[in-house]
Amino acid sequence: MIAQTDLFVSRRHANRVKNEQELIFVGTTSTLQNRISASAFDPEGRIAREDLLAFVELAVKAPSGFNLQPWHFLIIDDKDKKEALRTAAFGQQKITDAAASVIVLANLQAYERAEQIADDLVTKQYTPEAYKEKVISSIRSYHVNSPDKYKEEVIIAASSAAYGFQLAAFEHGYGVTPIGGFDPAAVSETFGIPAHLKPILIIAVGLSPVETKQRKFRFPVEEVSSFNAI
Ligand SMILES: Cc1cc2nc3c(=O)[nH]c(=O)nc-3n(C[C@H](O)[C@H](O)[C@H](O)COP(=O)(O)O)c2cc1C
Repeated sequence: MIAQTDLFVSRRHANRVKNEQELIFVGTTSTLQNRISASAFDPEGRIAREDLLAFVELAVKAPSGFNLQPWHFLIIDDKDKKEALRTAAFGQQKITDAAASVIVLANLQAYERAEQIADDLVTKQYTPEAYKEKVISSIRSYHVNSPDKYKEEVIIAASSAAYGFQLAAFEHGYGVTPIGGFDPAAVSETFGIPAHLKPILIIAVGLSPVETKQRKFRFPVEEVSSFNAI
């Protein structure tokens, strides 16, 4: 179960009280600072479905273009299905040892929910009622006029949500490894995933032995960032 204190902090964050916001930032900073990919999982480890859903609940707070929320989390926690997923992921053992392996799908048809998105914008006064149809047609025409850009944005948004899931699970004490080494066509075929849902990442999540390996290096900030010019 997610600790009550976390929910409490989140609720206070929603109220936008300055000193309480700082509490959130402390939590986020330490999670970002400490996260590493688990190098192994305890095959006996279990995670309650309610916890996995709580991580999804946190992950879907991620931003997305037009608030399209173009993601789906296909959670594989059945032993035989994890075996099948492992086969589609070049035999990677973490997939079966993890309590659950989550296939993150980017929804290439997210624009179909334009009406619901526009309704929310109008209800919450982000958009005047008079512009509602315009918003809907912008959303619907985006993927037609700029299909490549639309697809990229959908993948960016789903990737953001995927990282949110990893951070949430890690912060709550679980081992987490993102896995990109899989055959997307084989994954889709194995799980009957329709073509508009593109598998972008598998997240193995479970109980991990205490990590004995050192954190991997990162290139220094000065090398990977610059101001105003590349
Ligand atoms: C897109 C992506 C694909 C990855 N694919 C795999 C994978 O197939 N198998 C694996 O064990 N780890 C995989 N990783 C984890 C990386 O190896 C790991 O993030 C990287 O070495 C940095 O280590 P750290 O996460 O502990 O900081 C992947 C990570 C990302 C972001």
